[in-house]
Amino acid sequence: MNDNKILDILTRTSEYVSGQALAQQLGVSRQAVWKEIQALRTRGYAIESVTNRGYRLSAMPNYLNAPAVKAALTAKIIGCELEVLDSVGSTNDYLKARGSAGCKSGAVAAAREQVSGKGRLGRVWQSRRDENVMFSVLLRPQIAPSEVGGITPLAGLAVCKALRRFTGLDCRIKWPNDIIVGRKKLVGILTEMSAEFDAVEYIITGIGVNVDTAAFPGEIADKATSIFLETGRHVDKNKLLACLLDRLEREFVGNELSLTPAAREEYAALCVTLGRTVGFTRGGVPLSGLAAGIAENGALEVMLPDGSICEVNSGEVTAQGIY
Ligand code: BTN
Repeated sequence: MNDNKILDILTRTSEYVSGQALAQQLGVSRQAVWKEIQALRTRGYAIESVTNRGYRLSAMPNYLNAPAVKAALTAKIIGCELEVLDSVGSTNDYLKARGSAGCKSGAVAAAREQVSGKGRLGRVWQSRRDENVMFSVLLRPQIAPSEVGGITPLAGLAVCKALRRFTGLDCRIKWPNDIIVGRKKLVGILTEMSAEFDAVEYIITGIGVNVDTAAFPGEIADKATSIFLETGRHVDKNKLLACLLDRLEREFVGNELSLTPAAREEYAALCVTLGRTVGFTRGGVPLSGLAAGIAENGALEVMLPDGSICEVNSGEVTAQGIY
């Protein structure tokens, strides 16, 4: 029997459901229901059982699982197809394959473990099993490849706002879309696109939130942080993922997938890069200047020492005093 069916029933009510009712709805014996309840308990679901009343789900396990995310989710488009994978190479790569096979816009793949997680600029994104929230969202916007620039900052804005609300932390955006607390990185976002010359097939935004990590390895120890390190609390990862998906839907739908003037203003207000001296390279030449603004297409506007404004669209940008 598929235990998700029992979970589906138990997550839809806070009341007890009798073994008889479960058995009837699923077309199995009461003994088979009892066996599945035992299996769910061993996987971390707290299920109370009371004679003559039945079973009641009192707590979900705090590792990512689809029934718990769905129970907390209100978004209708983002997460319309939602999978939580036990282990995967990269959720971005997984969704690419699903995208090519025709999955819906708004499909989400999350994973308890990534064995070849990808970061920006060809880097590796490492995370121990069940420690963090890692997921990707696929969108099929009906726009030209040249118009997709707004999606990355919108995703950063959504994630920053969701985390501020969910954790109470003073999360900020380091351009283009690292989410940081103080001087340390809490979230990384990697956006990838499949497009033809004049049409986007799909865009995948992959998001990794450091949730429970208690210590980072040497080389990133002074650059990375987690919700646990900042708050001393272990938050509910399933509720956190639902909150992130809800906020992504609000920003994506509310701004029609473009960096509207209102979204750009909010982004700029949360962006710690602005007003700092930044370093970057252009054509292999190292340059530095003052981060002066966010352009309509999401690029960083940098004022060079000669007073000219240069738009930075991609690549590594270091911000003085951060990283
Ligand atoms: C960065 O370098 O800051 C971006 C990191 C993005 C990591 C996330 S985790 C989920 C998704 N799958 C991946 O392989 N990468 C992204």
